[in-house]
Amino acid sequence: MAERIFIGVAWPYANGPLHLGHLAGSYLPADIFARYHRIIGNHVLMVSGSDQHGTPITLRAEDEGVEPKEIVERFHASFLDTWEKMGIDFDLFTTTGTRNHTETVQQVFLSLLEQGYIYKDTMLLPYSAQEKRFLPDRYVEGICPHCGHKKARGDQCDQCGKTLNPIDLIEPRGKRDGSKLEFRESEHFFLKLTSFEHSLLDWIKRQEHWRPNVLNFSRRFIEDGLKDRAITRDIEWGIPIPLDGYDNKRIYVWFEAVIGYWSAAQEWAKNIKSPSSWEQFLTDPGTKSFYFMGKDNIPFHTIIWPSILMGVGSMNLPYDVPANEFLNLEGAKLSTSGNWAIWLPDYLENFDPDPLRYVLSATMPETSDTNFSWDNFVSRNNRELVATYGNLVHRVLTLTYMHFNGKFPSPGKMEKDDHMLMDMLPQSLKQAGERLEGCKFRDALGVAMNLAQSANRYIDFMAPWKTIKTDPTRTATTLWICINVISCLRTLMYPFLPFSSQNLHEQLGNQGTIQDCGWKLDTITPGQCFPSPQPLFKKLDESIADHQRKRLEEQSP
Ligand code: MF3
Ligand code: ZN
Repeated sequence: MAERIFIGVAWPYANGPLHLGHLAGSYLPADIFARYHRIIGNHVLMVSGSDQHGTPITLRAEDEGVEPKEIVERFHASFLDTWEKMGIDFDLFTTTGTRNHTETVQQVFLSLLEQGYIYKDTMLLPYSAQEKRFLPDRYVEGICPHCGHKKARGDQCDQCGKTLNPIDLIEPRGKRDGSKLEFRESEHFFLKLTSFEHSLLDWIKRQEHWRPNVLNFSRRFIEDGLKDRAITRDIEWGIPIPLDGYDNKRIYVWFEAVIGYWSAAQEWAKNIKSPSSWEQFLTDPGTKSFYFMGKDNIPFHTIIWPSILMGVGSMNLPYDVPANEFLNLEGAKLSTSGNWAIWLPDYLENFDPDPLRYVLSATMPETSDTNFSWDNFVSRNNRELVATYGNLVHRVLTLTYMHFNGKFPSPGKMEKDDHMLMDMLPQSLKQAGERLEGCKFRDALGVAMNLAQSANRYIDFMAPWKTIKTDPTRTATTLWICINVISCLRTLMYPFLPFSSQNLHEQLGNQGTIQDCGWKLDTITPGQCFPSPQPLFKKLDESIADHQRKRLEEQSP
């Protein structure tokens, strides 16, 4: 029976183009997972959107001397373009700037307020005498009280991952001018996280299928003691508080952005003219929900969002939160402000999407930080995509095209080696499927590549280019088997390499989309015609790695 799968992917701040870290951390794994569930016939709803509020946006707007609106429109358009070219296939990628989102957030706010999960209090906030205003959390820097990191931000410490308030920082300073700050009292609304502590811990203890880093981090986070958190700020850019007398304050970005999962699901339902369909995805206990993100976003998805969901009531809690670790670049930490990043629009101007999807899938930071280097990119493209997978496909199709007139041959009697390889096909589908379901993407890709390697050994051993002169039936059997292998690889690779899988699907003489074929082996029909074969992948010149690395070094100040 088909299952329902809700996939929420962290909402990128619309303050700059997308880069490799975004892709490896959240969007690629989510897309692989969604494609797998769609092809096996499950009902998938995958949503996200541009995070339009928060200091990352206002900082950039101030730097450029433009309105925040201009920034978010520019980068939202850029995101949509990148998803399409990269093959990240959302059911909806919206923004937190929609009216629907504002209304949903305000409703949730009022509902929690009414139930006492949100309350009013005063707090001490960093005030800059120079700028004559309260400073947003991210404009404040200081020493982390938990781990001593010197450059902790007012909202979170990047070293230990703890969420912070500016007042927690030791020696807080204004980030932009380094000025000393005073703390002044201001009235705000607080989310009563303390009232969810027990239910959260109870729930988290039962999530044994979570990745150990996510589970341990979240558990420790709660066991260290939760604190109520202010969810409003003294700012102008953000969602208004739906009560009189708070015109100078807005709802804090982290409280409202996670509610985007809900408002996006509602918007999707309206778009498909079935306005209540979102309920099946967010409230039906039979639906599993998965949230993809980088590790810096874990507490917002395992503590804050679940608390909001519990407070609202009758909503599904996350089934899994397969957060990734970080992707480093050429051995150094990726930095957007330092321009130590590979920007996806830039990448896409020079290369195809599938090689990057492949390399990032093979080196995905699932259990520890991993590294992207241009050397590795070029060598994996050439050795694995071109020489192993692409070459297998090309050898098989060109030999068949040449010797069997562009038609699939009829197999003769099968021997032991033939059976062994054929038996690998259903096994590979099963094994890769299990790993994909368990969000073990690297392993799943390994299963597919292992099949391609076995097929290469088989064809080298069988040497159909030799047997064609002496034993055409033997050659027909060998090639028939190899065509079944590549047909199976087309399916196995589809979640990772959607473009080349669809291409191969068509090269095998099929119409329609590969997704419609399902996660199964259709043994190929002898006599079926297929077009003249074209290589699936391009070999990259070794000099490209040096060239790209130099460009990276030059762009970074
Ligand atoms: N914009 C945040 C970031 O880039 C992520 C928000 S995820 C959400 O780190 F779920 F809150 F939307
Ligand atoms: Zn810290």
